[in-house]
Amino acid sequence: ADPVTTGPLVVLVGPPGSGKSSVGAALARLTGTPLRDTDTDIETRAGTTIAEIFTGRGEPAFRELEEQAVADALAEHPGVLALGGGAVLSARTRARLAGHPVAYLSVSATTGVQRVGLASHRPLMVGVNPRATYRALLADRVPLYREVARWEFATDTESVADLARAVADAV
Ligand code: S3P
Repeated sequence: ADPVTTGPLVVLVGPPGSGKSSVGAALARLTGTPLRDTDTDIETRAGTTIAEIFTGRGEPAFRELEEQAVADALAEHPGVLALGGGAVLSARTRARLAGHPVAYLSVSATTGVQRVGLASHRPLMVGVNPRATYRALLADRVPLYREVARWEFATDTESVADLARAVADAV
């Protein structure tokens, strides 16, 4: 796609635990731009938590809210935009990302599941076998992250500060 001339400075995609929030915050500081996060936008609009939306209304309802939140943020936000880990599951969202400067933060299953285990508010990871759940999630989504991204950064062994610098240098 032709590069778009308006929209976020950079869009971060990647699975839960890939560091979108921490790298996004560091990037915002580094570039002097605001950080926006579609998970937060959804919670603000719905007036409740993502976990509550998943249990009360179901994942398809959440995905619809997410599609709209991503579309609005792409249209409105000039700074760093972090997407929820499952946003790329939507074909409409993937089409909307075309031409935007998208950076994929990748992580191995081993590291990802460790990082996510530290914060258990994520509804998709509340299963009997978090490791198998996480591996399946990666198998489904890695091709989608790669489809939308212009750059890929492996996060397993890099510091947040180094990753933020690398992303800022790329965009
Ligand atoms: C999800 C990831 C979460 C959040 C929701 C669903 C997913 O965002 O959008 O719990 O499907 O991977 P993070 O990637 O910020 O954890």
